[in-house]
Order: sequence, then structure tokens, then C-alpha cells
Amino acid sequence: MSGGMVKQTIQIYARVKPLGRRQQAGIYSVGEDEKSASNLEILVPRDLAEGFVNNKRESYRFKFQKIFDQEAKQEAVFESIAKPVAECALAGYNGTIFAYGQTGSGKTFTITGGAERYSDRGIIPRTLSYIFQQLEKDSSNVYTTHVSYLEIYNECGYDLLDPRHEASRLEDLPKVTIMEDPDQNIHLKNLSLLQASNEEEALNLLFLGDTNRMIAEVRIKLTGINFTLDHLS
Ligand SMILES: Nc1ncnc2c1ncn2[C@@H]1O[C@H](COP(=O)(O)OP(=O)(O)O)[C@@H](O)[C@H]1O
Ligand SMILES: [Mg+2]
Repeated sequence: MSGGMVKQTIQIYARVKPLGRRQQAGIYSVGEDEKSASNLEILVPRDLAEGFVNNKRESYRFKFQKIFDQEAKQEAVFESIAKPVAECALAGYNGTIFAYGQTGSGKTFTITGGAERYSDRGIIPRTLSYIFQQLEKDSSNVYTTHVSYLEIYNECGYDLLDPRHEASRLEDLPKVTIMEDPDQNIHLKNLSLLQASNEEEALNLLFLGDTNRMIAEVRIKLTGINFTLDHLS
């Protein structure tokens, strides 16, 4: 975090992924403590590998702003996590949402969404839709909206919307470098910024970036979106 005005500190949420077909259930519980913070307690049976019966369990407890359990809907995740960030962005504060977790833990599902159902749309399409809805309501200002799509992999940034490239491998995409100016503003050099005037155009860019990402076929450790709006009165 750096530069500019800060409206809020970092908020950390947990989402528990529903079990896959051949996955074994983990042991965990969700609770609230005295200060009504959410706790996620994970129990890791000890010595299972050794094969002897042992009632001792190891417990790990983590605190989060809120915990989304297995049955949590995409809509609820959007409402609690993304909508406040979008509202801050509309009020002039930069906002970042990112998902962190091992491969297969549900980052893409949460951030982008699932392909099967419309209701599985994730944070990005819902937020794009919300932002354009809000902008349409405001007839007293003129807004320009741009989209860029950056992938960070192994400490390098890659431009997923590079117009000159039909990406075959991630390494073939232009590398994006992160630079900080004396005022501590972050600049992403080499990152395309494409105008998207409405939800459809923005979604098309999202699909283009996703396609480049899938073609490049990598295991992604970090997926995110950054919202910056230019206000023109
Ligand atoms: N909350 C969820 N509900 C239903 N399916 C999910 C959920 N989270 C993840 N999945 C499914 O689990 C698989 C792995 O999730 P994915 O988002 O691709 O993980 P990651 O991006 O962290 O590697 C995908 O098939 C995805 O659709
Ligand atoms: Mg993923």
C-alpha cells in the first residue's frame, strides 16, 4: 500500500471451498470470539501417517473479517467484499481485491467466476456491472473508463491485453515493470490501458485477457483486479 489517500486498512476474508468429488473433508469450525471477530479453526489430526490411534489433535486458529463457508453464494461474496471497494473507487479511492491460495483452492472461481451458471459469475463481472450501473445513474459527470489486465507470475508482470500479441506462452507477453515515483505513486510500465465505455466492452476485454491467460497455461498464485477511475467533470 502506498501513496494517495487511504480510506481503509486491509480487510482479510476467508472462503472455504466446497468439497470436490474425490476430496476428503477437512475438519474445521467457524466461530465468533468475544469481540465478534470471525475465527476459523482448523484441526489437523496428528500422527495419521504413522497409523496409530491418537486422540490428540493439532488446532490452528485464524482470525478474519468474515468467513464464507462452503455454501456461500457468489452474490454474498460480491456484496460483502467487492461492493464496498467499488463504492470507494467511485468516491475517488483506489481499491484492490486479490485472492490468495494454493492452486485449486478457488481463486479464479471467486474472482472471475465459474463457467457453468450465470449465478456463478465472480467478483470481476459483478463489479464491472455494478460500476457501469452507477456511472449511468450519474448524469452530472462525464466518465472515461479503462481496463487493464495484468498477471503476476514468478515475480514478473505480464500484460494480458497486449493488442500486438496472440500469446502462445506467458513468457512471450510483454513484461510489465512496476515503478514507484517520488510521490510513491505506483506506475505499471508496458501495461495496456484500453478504453471500455460500457459493461459489454469491459467484459470482452476480460474474456480476451482470460483467453490469453489460459493459452499461456500457468499455475497462478495471485489473481486480482485493480479499479482506478478518472473523473472528468
Ligand atoms: N465456491 C465454489 N463453489 C463451487 N465450485 C468451486 C468453488 N470454488 C472453486 N470451485 C471449483 O474448484 C475448481 C478449482 O477452483 P479454481 O478457482 O480454478 O482454483 P484456483 O484458481 O485457486 O487454482 C474449479 O473447478 C472451480 O470451479
Ligand atoms: Mg486460477
